[in-house]
Amino acid sequence: MADRLEMTTDLIDYVCQHGTRESAPLRKLRKQTQALPESSMRVPPEEGQLLHFLIRTLNARKVMELGVFTGYSTLWMASALPEDGRLVAIDKRKDWKDLAETHWEEAGVRDRIDFRVGRAEHVMSDMLDAGEGGTFDLIFIDADKKSYTTYFELALKLLRSGGIMVFDNMLRLGDVVDPAVSDPAVDDIRTLNERLRDDSRVEISMLPFSDGLTLVLKTS
Ligand SMILES: C[S@@+](CC[C@H](N)C(=O)[O-])C[C@H]1O[C@@H](n2cnc3c(N)ncnc32)[C@H](O)[C@@H]1O
Repeated sequence: MADRLEMTTDLIDYVCQHGTRESAPLRKLRKQTQALPESSMRVPPEEGQLLHFLIRTLNARKVMELGVFTGYSTLWMASALPEDGRLVAIDKRKDWKDLAETHWEEAGVRDRIDFRVGRAEHVMSDMLDAGEGGTFDLIFIDADKKSYTTYFELALKLLRSGGIMVFDNMLRLGDVVDPAVSDPAVDDIRTLNERLRDDSRVEISMLPFSDGLTLVLKTS
């Protein structure tokens, strides 16, 4: 018997049916996102549920997201925050802002979300300059894949000790282990995977889940 279960579509459906609590506004937003040509950018429900769970586990009040798209992962996270919690959600595009905000509003969490349009690395640097270093409880990273090593160093400064970073797409749909594939995104993610393994400032857990998710705990 293999020591790992091979995931099938049926099993993933089972996980979604039994392991997620997707609210009506989340479901509606997922369905509307599904109709867009870029729909594959959205995180799956079980990943949203994990982000929600982590925020509750940490009693997080201050969270950041890099890469908002239609705001589906944003909504999962904002719903886990207390009323006075704050989620700084950054995207360089505002094409999907109205769609996102309609559903954030419907779910009653619009006030908790501080949506910023801009390049994530610039917004993060500005926040560090403004003295917000060491104040975030959780940072979810799902923006420009070729900037992940840059995001890591900035996020490490923004997180408090004991805070968690979550990196999405760390397996690049299998490309990380395909020697024939080399592009700026895959190469940067390979570099980050090696660095994270060896970096004594953090503890890690790399999950073969969704498209590869790495949890990074800031220990110092
Ligand atoms: C994979 S999607 C995010 C999906 C979203 N987390 C969800 O689950 O629905 C990536 C997003 O990152 C944004 N993005 C790409 N490069 C960026 C950058 N340098 N700064 C900020 N946002 C960026 C894109 O516009 C896109 O909306």
